[in-house]
Amino acid sequence: MQIADFALERFFARWEFAVRHLLCASDVEAWPMADLLALADEPTRARWDGLCLGYTESPGDPQLRAEIATLYDTLAADDTLVFSGAEEAIFCLLTVLLGPGDHAIVAWPGYQSLYEVARAAGAEVTLHELHEGDGWSLDVERLVAAIRPSTRAVVVNAPHNPTGMLPTAAEWRALGEACRDAGVRLVADEVYRFLEHGGRAPLPAGADLDPVFVSVGVLSKSFALAGLRIGWLASRDRDLLRRCAALKDYTTICAAAPSEILGLVALRSRDAVLARSRAIVAPNLERFDAFLAERPGFASWVRPAGGSVGFPRLAAGLDADRFVADLVEAEGVLLMPGSAFGHPGNHVRVGLGRTDLPIALERLAAFLDGRGIG
Ligand SMILES: Cc1ncc(COP(=O)(O)O)c(C=O)c1O
Repeated sequence: MQIADFALERFFARWEFAVRHLLCASDVEAWPMADLLALADEPTRARWDGLCLGYTESPGDPQLRAEIATLYDTLAADDTLVFSGAEEAIFCLLTVLLGPGDHAIVAWPGYQSLYEVARAAGAEVTLHELHEGDGWSLDVERLVAAIRPSTRAVVVNAPHNPTGMLPTAAEWRALGEACRDAGVRLVADEVYRFLEHGGRAPLPAGADLDPVFVSVGVLSKSFALAGLRIGWLASRDRDLLRRCAALKDYTTICAAAPSEILGLVALRSRDAVLARSRAIVAPNLERFDAFLAERPGFASWVRPAGGSVGFPRLAAGLDADRFVADLVEAEGVLLMPGSAFGHPGNHVRVGLGRTDLPIALERLAAFLDGRGIG
């Protein structure tokens, strides 16, 4: 299989565990395991205490799948398939869905595997470009106009990495209807679902909009448990899930036993888990917004509508790659240049999910002051 390097992951491979302040992470500050276990109800605690570290059921633990299904309005446990992270779910799904002669439309800039795996599967990919001047919004009409007879999938991540874009429910339903009318499958990457800002309700899940649409979910982001590596596909198209499960036999076979039980704890305590994440992200969003307002000579942004990241544009004259390199060297604070998304603009990704964001902003302020920026 020929596949291009995953630029963002290569960037993180160099920096993620070498810097003092990760001001570009997309996950939320992870739960300490003891705190998570303290939330376990009695039966789940008993499963944890008695856990044997053998192989697990390939489609996923039945109780875990049942909990995942309750995140959707129309799904049963058998409409879910557990993977090792959303990344494996995306890999298996797009590999199964697409092949030579097929066409896919993928929102861009975005998480690279959403279009790179499609290309590696042999499909032709049209990138649906989001523009800052339009508030990074999804242009449903333009996207639908790109559908061809050979289009097999429209792939949209919302809330969106890296821009924080979140379509309105009306736009989202309109996209779903257009895909259904054209006989095209909507793949909704919803890994940042439940982190909508300003009290906005989550969008209807893709998998609830139509029996053949697919939702991608994970415990890494909104649920703040990236280390579990528990992700899933959700769809009422059980034949599709069966084909994805058959490919998973060649990747991980099954999820890690401790992760499944800890994931079960988290989903059974979802109100507390999600409340904690929102209590980290919401004040950080305000802090970063205020920081930008005070320093217009540094950067400006389209304020994210959801998720745990944003994509500010540096002021004219500041080069994103250079700026990121100088900042990390001087202050140990890591931003992510737009080039990690293959984006030619002067943007950087900022992460809003880490509790050290106030300190990182202090270091960033010192850096800007030292250079007379802002
Ligand atoms: C949009 C999107 N989808 C999928 C993933 C993959 O999630 P995970 O690394 O937990 O598998 C990410 C991670 O950053 C993401 O941003």
